[in-house]
Amino acid sequence: MIAILLGPPGAGKGTQGELIAARLGVPKVATGDVLRAAVRDGTEQGLAAKAYMDRGDLVPDDVILGIMKEVLASPEAANGAILDGVVRTVPQAEGLTMMLAELGRKVDKFLLFDVAENELVMRLGGRTVCEKCQTPYRGLEPGTDCEKCGGTLVRRKDDEPESIRNRLRVYQAQTEPVIEWAKEKKMEVVKIDATGAVEEITDRAMKALGE
Ligand code: AP5
Repeated sequence: MIAILLGPPGAGKGTQGELIAARLGVPKVATGDVLRAAVRDGTEQGLAAKAYMDRGDLVPDDVILGIMKEVLASPEAANGAILDGVVRTVPQAEGLTMMLAELGRKVDKFLLFDVAENELVMRLGGRTVCEKCQTPYRGLEPGTDCEKCGGTLVRRKDDEPESIRNRLRVYQAQTEPVIEWAKEKKMEVVKIDATGAVEEITDRAMKALGE
């Protein structure tokens, strides 16, 4: 099963991706997490990506497709993967489907997480994430210990109001066209109401995946 989680910043892709992947027994791959780890480790890729990410702009498509090439070749992804935040542009969607076709695989479904904009802004304004394992939290202050790995919770730089506004604009301009692209290619896009209790949303997503 290869499922792509689509949706604006703060829609809960990271939160749900982890839970859906655990229920299916496949890895969750989040390009945002891969890039933040590269920034933290000060790698060449991280240094190149940092300015884009801090502003809330997209990192160039070739960097993302390079990451995905490595991921898809790894044995962990042999039985499928939940892709969180990949793809975000039509060229990424085209590149990924081509890569998968070469491997005799395909995208099984797009899950589109739907949340009203005022709720998104509220969620991102109150979010902290673990700097080590990147688990997102709400209602916990920076400096708190991560319940999962003991790392320290921090605020993401791109959760500043100006970056949030830019990320929402970038989503509308560059990522929403992926939805039309997928429909034109007769790929299945299922819209999910992503408001309410986290577990209920996971149930909706599993149902949409036919599980
Ligand atoms: P990325 O890390 O993917 O950020 P994003 O898409 O903006 O999404 P977020 O992580 O902000 O939100 P989310 O939908 O995962 O929500 P979450 O579960 O955390 O990407 C960051 C940057 O990396 C990009 O801006 C770009 O620069 C770069 N990048 C990454 N991928 C790229 C690509 N493919 N191409 C180009 N550039 C790329 O939830 C949000 C908050 O809400 C949390 O506090 C959570 O606890 C809370 N919450 C979750 N569910 C609920 C609920 N049901 N009710 C109430 N609160 C909830």
